[in-house]
Amino acid sequence: MPKRTVEDIDVADKRVLVRVDFNVPLNPDGTISDDSRIQACLPTINYLIEKHARVIVCSHLGRPKGKVVEGLKLAPVAKRLSELLGKPVEAATDCIGPDVEAAVASLQDGEVILLENLRFYAEEEANDRDFARALARLADVYVDDAFGASHRAHASVVGVAEYLPAVAGFLMEKELKALSSTLENPRRPFAAIIGGAKVAGKLGILENIIGKVDALLIGGGMVATFLKSKGHEVGASMVEDDKLDYIEQLTSRAKSLGVRLLLPQDVIVAEKLEAGFSPRVVPAEEIPAGWVIADIGPRTIEEFSRELKKCRTVVWNGPMGMFEIPQFAQGTCTLAKVLADLEATTVVGGGSTAEAVVEMGLADKMSHVSTGGGASLKFLEGKVLPGVAVL
Ligand code: 3PG
Repeated sequence: MPKRTVEDIDVADKRVLVRVDFNVPLNPDGTISDDSRIQACLPTINYLIEKHARVIVCSHLGRPKGKVVEGLKLAPVAKRLSELLGKPVEAATDCIGPDVEAAVASLQDGEVILLENLRFYAEEEANDRDFARALARLADVYVDDAFGASHRAHASVVGVAEYLPAVAGFLMEKELKALSSTLENPRRPFAAIIGGAKVAGKLGILENIIGKVDALLIGGGMVATFLKSKGHEVGASMVEDDKLDYIEQLTSRAKSLGVRLLLPQDVIVAEKLEAGFSPRVVPAEEIPAGWVIADIGPRTIEEFSRELKKCRTVVWNGPMGMFEIPQFAQGTCTLAKVLADLEATTVVGGGSTAEAVVEMGLADKMSHVSTGGGASLKFLEGKVLPGVAVL
C-alpha cells in the first residue's frame, strides 16, 4: 500500500524527528566497519536539510538492554554522518529530557542533531507511552526511514507515531517498493535462493515464497535437514529432526505447484567449521561420518548458476555456506557474482547475505540490497511490519 512520504508534507522551519537504523557493525576499536546503513539514509536527511527543516535524527545501536554502554554510544556514528553530509552533526548526550530539549530548541533551520542511543532506555523496547511522548515532544513531524527496525514494535518506531504526523522517508519507501513489487509482480521465471544455518529460521519465508516462485534453491547449513529428509546420512551436520515432516510437506507442495526445488548435488565438508580444517568435496548422499557440511559443492554451484541465468527475478536470503571462512565461501561468492551479472531484478535480503555482497563490492550491481536483516525476512514471510503499519 503506498505510504505518505516526506515529500507529501511541508517541513520548512519544522522540527523533524527522523528514525533511522544506524545499527552499524563496529570494529573492536569502536570504528564503523560498514557505513551502508548511514549512506542509505542520506537522501532523506539531505532532502530535509535542503527544505530548511531542523533535523533530529534518532537510532538504536546494538542491544544495550536499557543501560548506558560506553561502546554503544552514537558519537562515532555522528562523526561519520557529519563527514558524509559535509556539515556538522551534534551528538546529543541523551535522547530525551531537558538537555536534549534545550539542544533541539537551539537548532537552526537545516541543522542536524543525532540523539543518543534510544536503547539506553528500557522504555524504548517496551514501547512505553511516556517515553514515546517524551521523544514526540522534541518534534513537530515524524519521518520513519528505519526499515531495518520496522519489525520491532518499539517506542521510536511505533509509539511516537501516535503523537506526531508520521510519514515514510525515501529509504523506507525504496525498500517497500523493491520488496513488494518483487513479491507481487515478479518478472518470470522467478527464483528464490534460501540459505542459512537452520530451517527453523526460514520456515516463514519458505512457506510464503513457495507459492510465488518458479524455482527454489536451497543452500547453507539447513541443507543437512533437507538431505536427511531424503534418507541421506549427513555426518556430524546439525539436523533439525522436528522439521523433517515439514520438509516432506514442502517438497510435495513444490511438486504439486510445479516449483523446481533444487537441493545441492554435492557439498563441501570439513571436520570442523573452522579455518585450518581442510575442505573436501563429496556427493550430497556420501557425507562421511563425523564431517560437517560447510558449503555447496562445485557441481551444485554450476547447476544453481545455470538455473539463475534463466531467471528474470531472483530473491536471495541466506548464505550458501560459512562464507566468513575463506575456504567455505566459494558458493556464496560465486552466486553473488552470478547475480551481479544477471539481466534480471535481483533482490538481496539484509543481514549476512547483504554483508557478503557488500564485502565483495557487488552491492551496486544488484537491483536492491535491503538494509534490514530481520525486517526483510519478515517482509518476505508476508508479515505486517509494525513500523510500516503505523505510517
Ligand atoms: C538489525 O540490525 O536487523 C536492526 O537494527 C534490528 O536490530 P535488533 O535485531 O537488535 O532489533
